Formats: sequence, structure tokens, C-alpha cells
Amino acid sequence: MVGSVPNPPARPPEVVVMVGLQGSGKSTWVARHLAATHEIVSKDHWPNARHRERRQRRVLNELLAAGRDVVVDNTNPAPADRAPIIEIARAHGATVRAVYLDVPLHICLARNENRQGRARVPLVGVLAALKRLVPPSADEGFDRVDTVTTGP
Ligand SMILES: Nc1ncnc2c1ncn2[C@@H]1O[C@H](COP(=O)(O)OP(=O)(O)OP(=O)(O)O)[C@@H](O)[C@H]1O
Ligand SMILES: [Mg+2]
Repeated sequence: MVGSVPNPPARPPEVVVMVGLQGSGKSTWVARHLAATHEIVSKDHWPNARHRERRQRRVLNELLAAGRDVVVDNTNPAPADRAPIIEIARAHGATVRAVYLDVPLHICLARNENRQGRARVPLVGVLAALKRLVPPSADEGFDRVDTVTTGP
């Protein structure tokens, strides 16, 4: 075709791994910053399903195979939670970024208390995540780690 424009060089897909306690504001941040560009994967989308972890990995694989940018919106508190996501991302040649919501416990709890019904997480759940929480680090294999704070 005359005057056809060559395709732009292929850009590898990006996987964003959210990290933060329940109520820290991950889903709010994703809605504000990534909803227009990234597919949102979250085990919260299947609250009653069995094998949610396996299902999430399968969906992540499928989206990356289709060349999509993806954000994984779970608490992902420990390196062991993040390692399988990083591994899948790498297998697809994707870049991997962590976004860490570094929000004090009392603020997370207050935000959680303001939630209604099922959206409100039991306190033990937040404390269990706190116990496991290790801020993400480039050593785990992230190309980039962004930290979001509550600010003044
Ligand atoms: N920057 C902010 N300032 C004030 N309130 C916020 C902010 N971000 C989120 N919130 C409020 O805090 C509550 C929890 O936010 P959100 O649902 O985004 O948290 P989450 O980290 O996704 O929690 P979960 O892990 O349980 O899904 C919501 O009611 C939201 O409106
Ligand atoms: Mg959320």
C-alpha cells in the first residue's frame, strides 16, 4: 500500500503489582492511574471461587499472551506472593513494576471502618497482612518500585 505507515516497534507489555494493606487505597489508585491503560486482575473479582490463585495466574498468562498491560490488584504483602507474578511476567518478556501503598495502619483501619457490608475486611485479615508485609524491592526482580504515601 502506498504511503503505508510502518508499525511502531513492539513494546513489551507491563505488569504492575500492587502492594499494600487492605484499605491502603490500592484499588482507588488503580482506578485513577491505570484503569484506562491496564487490564485489572484481582482475586477480589472472584470472592467465592475456589482456586483463586490458580485462576488469577491463568488470567494473567492469557492477558500477557494477548499483549495487554496488566495490573494485579491484591494486597501482595510478601515476596512469596509476588514471585509467581514476576515469573509469569518474565516468561512473557514483560516489564514488572511494583506500586507500594505505604499507608500507616491506623489510616488503613479507619478507611476500612468506613466501608459498608462485605467491602469491610475483618480486622484479623488486615493484621495478618501487616504481619507478612515486606515492602517490595528491586532485588525481587522488579524493574521499578514506586512508593505512594498518604502525604501531609
Ligand atoms: N488517597 C485517599 N485518601 C482518602 N481516602 C482514600 C484514599 N484512597 C482510598 N481511599 C478510601 O479508602 C477506602 C479503601 O480504599 P481502596 O478500596 O482503594 O483500598 P484497597 O487497598 O484496594 O483495599 P483492599 O485491599 O481491601 O481491596 C475507600 O473507601 C476509598 O475511598
Ligand atoms: Mg482493593
